[in-house]
Amino acid sequence: MVRRLVIGAAGQLGIELVLRMQKEFGVESVDISDIRVPENDAAMRSKFLHLDATDEKYDEVYHLAAMLSATGEKKPLAAWDLNMQSLLNVLEAAKEGLIKRLFWPSSIAVFGPSTPKNRVPQDAPLDPTTVYGISKQAGEFWCRYYHEKYGVDVRSVRYPGLIGHRSVPGGGTTDYAVDIYHFAAKDEPYTCFLKADQALPMMYMDDAVRGTLELMGAPKSKITVRTSYNLGAMSFTPSEVGESIRQQRPQFELRYAPDQRQAIAASWPSSIDDSAANRDWGWQPRITIDDMTSLMLDAISTKNETFEH
Ligand SMILES: NC(=O)c1ccc[n+]([C@@H]2O[C@H](COP(=O)([O-])OP(=O)(O)OC[C@H]3O[C@@H](n4cnc5c(N)ncnc54)[C@H](O)[C@@H]3O)[C@@H](O)[C@H]2O)c1
Repeated sequence: MVRRLVIGAAGQLGIELVLRMQKEFGVESVDISDIRVPENDAAMRSKFLHLDATDEKYDEVYHLAAMLSATGEKKPLAAWDLNMQSLLNVLEAAKEGLIKRLFWPSSIAVFGPSTPKNRVPQDAPLDPTTVYGISKQAGEFWCRYYHEKYGVDVRSVRYPGLIGHRSVPGGGTTDYAVDIYHFAAKDEPYTCFLKADQALPMMYMDDAVRGTLELMGAPKSKITVRTSYNLGAMSFTPSEVGESIRQQRPQFELRYAPDQRQAIAASWPSSIDDSAANRDWGWQPRITIDDMTSLMLDAISTKNETFEH
């Protein structure tokens, strides 16, 4: 049996990845770890380790623990400490032979003002403006270093903003695209913290989870990028999400009150060229903005539960 460990399993992405892996590979095949216990009961069927790092052996480790962009700007040194030290811990464990294959996510936050805005190429200059982005940039090069120097099989993607209905977003600049659906599902107006026309690359959770597992399942020989692969799906503005929601909920009201997160969003590209991921391991996004709107509104309304703000 392939043994897998997800670190940061209680987070927005972690919950989704754990549920998919339980379904695809069996509950026994996935252990989970976090500094808090996941609120999702199904996720807790997996063995829970109260650890940051582990000295058990795993075939695959998914290291998702991090402090995200907006929270990181409030606590820059703590963000650096968590994001870098925890990555170095797992890279060291992989170097020692405790982990066969390691997944660590980077982000579009590695890009910045000097990066092309549209269809940003795989090898565009990295120009992060946030501590989070700096930690992802440094992390990408640490990954490549451990691969080249010690043969560590570490794989990575630069996720765009991730949107899912199962959990509260973790303090990122793209969180509005999750929050908006919870308000729309309650028939309440939503006030967006980004400008109406701020286009950003985004991805529905099912695509993100599938892409992650496809990358981890690809033969080693196919992986040519050992920093991090660009990963694209859709690009939209807050106003376009509002339009998509209004197709189903014509009364939905969207207001704007941009805050400090707008400056972070403005430094990021609006769309991604992910042809390297397509060429190397066949990446293809599936979910469009209108698909996502239906999936989000249905899931939130069916569960009839929204998180508190
Ligand atoms: N959500 C997005 O839009 C997005 C976009 C790009 C990249 N990413 C990356 O994906 C990963 C997961 O993001 P997310 O949205 O699920 O974040 P999240 O904040 O929702 O989850 C992170 C989890 O890590 C846990 N954690 C913190 N410190 C820990 C420690 N010392 N040991 C173990 N666990 C710890 C937290 O309790 C939390 O449950 C992160 O690396 C993030 O940078 C996310």
